[in-house]
Amino acid sequence: MKTENRGSFSSKIGVILATVGTAVGLGNVWRFPYIVGENGGGAFLVIYILSLLLLGIPGVIAEFIVGRHSHANAVDSLKKLAPKTKWHWIGYSGVLAGFLIMGYYAVVVGWTLEYLTQAILGNLSGMTVEQYGQVFDQFAGHPYWPLVWMVIVMLISTFVVARGVSGGIEKISNVLMPVFFLIILVMVANSFFLPAAGQGMKYLFLPNFSELEPVAILIAIGQTFFSLSLGMGCLITYSSYFKKDVSLAKTATQVVSIDAMVAILSAMIIFPAVFSFGMQPTEGPSLVFKVLPNVFQQMPLGTLWSILFYALLFIAAITSLISLLEVVTAYIYENTSLTRRKAAFIVTGMVSVLGVFASMSFGLLQDVTLFGKTFFDLLDFVTASILLPVGGFFISIFVGWFLDKRIIATELRIKHPKAHLFIKGYIYMLRFFVPACIFAVFLYSLLG
Ligand code: PFF
Repeated sequence: MKTENRGSFSSKIGVILATVGTAVGLGNVWRFPYIVGENGGGAFLVIYILSLLLLGIPGVIAEFIVGRHSHANAVDSLKKLAPKTKWHWIGYSGVLAGFLIMGYYAVVVGWTLEYLTQAILGNLSGMTVEQYGQVFDQFAGHPYWPLVWMVIVMLISTFVVARGVSGGIEKISNVLMPVFFLIILVMVANSFFLPAAGQGMKYLFLPNFSELEPVAILIAIGQTFFSLSLGMGCLITYSSYFKKDVSLAKTATQVVSIDAMVAILSAMIIFPAVFSFGMQPTEGPSLVFKVLPNVFQQMPLGTLWSILFYALLFIAAITSLISLLEVVTAYIYENTSLTRRKAAFIVTGMVSVLGVFASMSFGLLQDVTLFGKTFFDLLDFVTASILLPVGGFFISIFVGWFLDKRIIATELRIKHPKAHLFIKGYIYMLRFFVPACIFAVFLYSLLG
């Protein structure tokens, strides 16, 4: 295994921005608002926040401990910490999950770039509700345009990953994430001036538990994993580049809080806008591509708002795509004689093949299904509903039951007179609570 020159994030702010870069993605801006919409608003938000606190923070810390202590990729980290055991299979499952998620994630990132381009060209206005729907269906089902965009976004990611940790990933996050926060704040400020601002905010923040179905709890847990990039060694890989002076518990809390805040702010942009123009937020996955362009065109300065929104979505998505590519590239790079650049290119080539099938699920292959799912949906299902929860389950068991407690104590280094109690409580969470909750999600996904 290559260990020299692994690189590291050069500053603490770089650590936060890069880690927030992986966590904040399509999961926050695209997925979160529509699942809140589908699950009745405010009450779902309460459950989601509980899930972030009780499962998210302990889960993120567990991956951080494994990554920073071993200074290795998702597979080799576990080989180092548990030599001659099978624990590193969690890492293989993570690398596989990273590869499969990229296969469809890159397609959607490509769509965001198409929509950003069309917004800049001023082509996203002057249509009826139905026409916006048709435009999306025609584009997503086109035999090659979505593929061209997918390859472009993969090449951008390859370029960043090839430049390494501080020179590539950290640099791009340091530039893009502040732009992201600026855009999101401007858009939220605008939301307050929309006619249905009050209605939108009430929908999001006023919990009505009578509308909440029990499955919402499981959906919230699944969303926690996807949104925090948990369960596939992505945070192991990123934290393997943290220096010793980074506080893991503090960083985990900050990243989880920012991730939650971005999801809430995205919903604060979308709900008032959707209600103000007589639409409903229950549209599902196509909400941001079919419904929002029509909403923006009805606002004063509509073109500007649609450019800002798709730029926001694109930045969120590309920084997460880069992290997915990094997980697979780091593993290949550190286990072969290939350079980072070559390793990243090879992964991009393989992902592009997968992406062709994922993209064609909206066109030529839309009627080809396996277990009732298109190829695109199958990739999503296998990763988000199986590989991530299984990965999270075993990482939690590994750190809770098998990892030497002294490693946990050294890595956490909590400076508090009652530190040993925190650590004890934390280990209990990892041993019982976290695996039990994940097990429930897993059963539901398979049987539900
Ligand atoms: N967290 C990303 C999002 O919310 O869109 C998705 C993701 C990125 C999942 C990286 C897993 C991962 F390793």
